[in-house]
Amino acid sequence: MKNKKNIENDEIDCLLEAIWRRYGYDFRHYSRASIKRRIRHHMGLSDCQHISEMIPKIFHDESFFESLLNDLSISVTQMFRDPVVFNSIRQQIFPKLKTYARINIWHAGCSTGEEAYTLAILLEEEGLLNRAQIYATDFNNASIDKASRGIYPLKSLQNCNELYLSSGGKHKISDYYHANYEAIKFKQSLVDHITFAHHNLTCDQVFAQMHLILCRNVLIYFDKTLQNHVLDLCRDSLVSQGFLVLGDKENLDFTSVREDFDNFSQPHRIYRKRAGW
Ligand SMILES: C[S@@+](CC[C@H](N)C(=O)[O-])C[C@H]1O[C@@H](n2cnc3c(N)ncnc32)[C@H](O)[C@@H]1O
Repeated sequence: MKNKKNIENDEIDCLLEAIWRRYGYDFRHYSRASIKRRIRHHMGLSDCQHISEMIPKIFHDESFFESLLNDLSISVTQMFRDPVVFNSIRQQIFPKLKTYARINIWHAGCSTGEEAYTLAILLEEEGLLNRAQIYATDFNNASIDKASRGIYPLKSLQNCNELYLSSGGKHKISDYYHANYEAIKFKQSLVDHITFAHHNLTCDQVFAQMHLILCRNVLIYFDKTLQNHVLDLCRDSLVSQGFLVLGDKENLDFTSVREDFDNFSQPHRIYRKRAGW
């Protein structure tokens, strides 16, 4: 006889299989502990007593799936998150990117877009925005819709000016948006250089000829197999000597691409693809 924990694991396997078959979203290689927490949380919000009761809803209730997807995708983000990393991008990476006539940047797992607007501000201040194109992607359509609108609650930018200044900011963060009552909208000059799009890292293709990729706080939710798949995708999307920036709990040690990258700024998890690759 199986114990309760094993039964729950089987129920999760079946639920993830149902999601995969019905919608093509593959959570089977997400870190088990985090996916279990999110599924339990969602079950608490629904009228289900057991995880397996969510399976028929996956097949027959699209709005149920959409709300579960929102729970599973963990969209926590912030403008100028880890400002020292952005300072390092500004001071160390941008001087190298200046040599290119056109600069392609990919935010893989951009959530609701704050990270992409952060980078657009940095590029603008360093005189590079005019020749830059930022591609910012996520598999959560609700997040991409919000990112494309570029409208955020004013209160979400509280403390943002301090973070902006720590990232080497040269003006005031408020120079980059229009405020209206409780909301802000980023200036069109920033929006024009960002393309937000749906992209699923588990199954979609490379973004070719990127000079810089930020894939921050995404790999932590994946198991080793999926981490390696996504890192292969990043490597193949970068030009020779392109840059890869990971989140503060992520690194390339013991991954399939370790030999393909040099450490560029180890404290900030910035890597550079080796020449000749
Ligand atoms: C914690 S957020 C990180 C946002 C941003 N990069 C940052 O560091 O502030 C993780 C994002 O990864 C996205 N994500 C998770 N699995 C994904 C997948 N298979 N394909 C694309 N995006 C994915 C989630 O939807 C979420 O928006």
